Amino acid sequence: MNFEELFSEHISYLQNEYNKILEKNNIEHLIIHSGQLKYAFLDDLQYPFKVNPHFKYFVPVTNNPNCFLHIRKAEKPVLYYYNPTDFWHEQAGDPEGFWVNEFDIKIITNVDQAKEKLSNLPHSTYIGEHADELASWNFTKSNPEEFLHEVHFMRAAKTEYERANLREANKVAAKAHLAARDAFYAGGTEFEINHAYLKSAGILEHQEPYGNIVALNEKGAILHYTNLRTQKFSKENTHSFLIDAGYDLNGYAADITRTYSFKNDEFSELVRAMDGVLLKSIEDFKIDVAYTESHLKSHTYIAELLKQFKFVDLDPEAIVEKKISKIFFPHGLGHFLGLQVHDVGGYLQNPLGTQVTPPEDHPFLRCTRVIQKGHVFTVEPGLYFIDPLLKDLKNSENAKYINWEKVDSFRKFGGIRMEDNIFMTETGKENFTRNAFKQLKK
Ligand code: GLY
Ligand code: MN
Ligand code: MN
Repeated sequence: MNFEELFSEHISYLQNEYNKILEKNNIEHLIIHSGQLKYAFLDDLQYPFKVNPHFKYFVPVTNNPNCFLHIRKAEKPVLYYYNPTDFWHEQAGDPEGFWVNEFDIKIITNVDQAKEKLSNLPHSTYIGEHADELASWNFTKSNPEEFLHEVHFMRAAKTEYERANLREANKVAAKAHLAARDAFYAGGTEFEINHAYLKSAGILEHQEPYGNIVALNEKGAILHYTNLRTQKFSKENTHSFLIDAGYDLNGYAADITRTYSFKNDEFSELVRAMDGVLLKSIEDFKIDVAYTESHLKSHTYIAELLKQFKFVDLDPEAIVEKKISKIFFPHGLGHFLGLQVHDVGGYLQNPLGTQVTPPEDHPFLRCTRVIQKGHVFTVEPGLYFIDPLLKDLKNSENAKYINWEKVDSFRKFGGIRMEDNIFMTETGKENFTRNAFKQLKK
């Protein structure tokens, strides 16, 4: 199937599901806003536009503010598409592409033209972040929770169209990852490596689905490090490289991390071992089993490495039980992925909004959901040498189990994270990320 056919199927599915949701919530007119440009305080400079994810679930246009999608039961959705006369700024332009046939498109050159059609409608619901500015449109409701829960719950299971986007986004990101890796081994600075990534992906920084993490040496220990140093390291002082960088295709995000050792040393063995942890963790995911189970198991795998590489002198079970693995692996195993990098619905257990929060000891786990067919999520175990957490460990009763000399000698490497993007099928999994890298190596 080509993209046009996949998209048509996607929209039919959404219409069918939304019909039921509208019915249940007594919504006659659903109005989804793409968003508005935001300006810096007392300035005419705009922040980069970030489209409403509810809008791009239907319309794969991520760069056009002031659009409104009008959905009614069993009717072709009407898209008020903003295309003003503006000689100052480039506009999104005429609607074109694989998606246009699914909408009744009405071009508007100013927002009042949409207001005329969409205000004062009975049983109307507005979805967007500008309810206050649009108060005079008199929507019956804005962003009602019961509607959001329904959609956020269903969004976890992707359609074939969404799957195709995520697969293709991974291909572009994987290629850019290899360009970044090559720049690292050629002695590039963080700044230069990031450039190599963006050049390969063909994007500007504001088009990344999230801020690239490009970390040399000890900075790999900062989980969301987005500084880009121009500092050049000698070969002697180049140790490691952690890159967490993605790509956005039609509003769908890839989210990939790889870590490299500059030399063939014990750190490179640890990187290989962590890749093994990632693969084992992926294996653990099964239909009808909660994400939490895999997260908890991954702590045992990390603990095994902590023992095997002689960082901690305890058995793996004791390392987990004494909460030492959490010092080295402080974040969650992963999260849902899709229209948002940290996609919604990770804690939802049903469309009514019942939430299951993560276990008390694992507050940063973003997904507790029971995994089902069609779910897309990341798996991203990590092992880091994080100064403030190690300081806490040193001041704790557990300090005596740690081989500090060894741990201290690894601080210069920062840490390791390996992250793949996984689609659950009925009988197995599609690993978008591994497949993408494999294809490139052919
Ligand atoms: N890139 C952010 C994350 O992996 O969650
Ligand atoms: Mn991630
Ligand atoms: Mn990531």
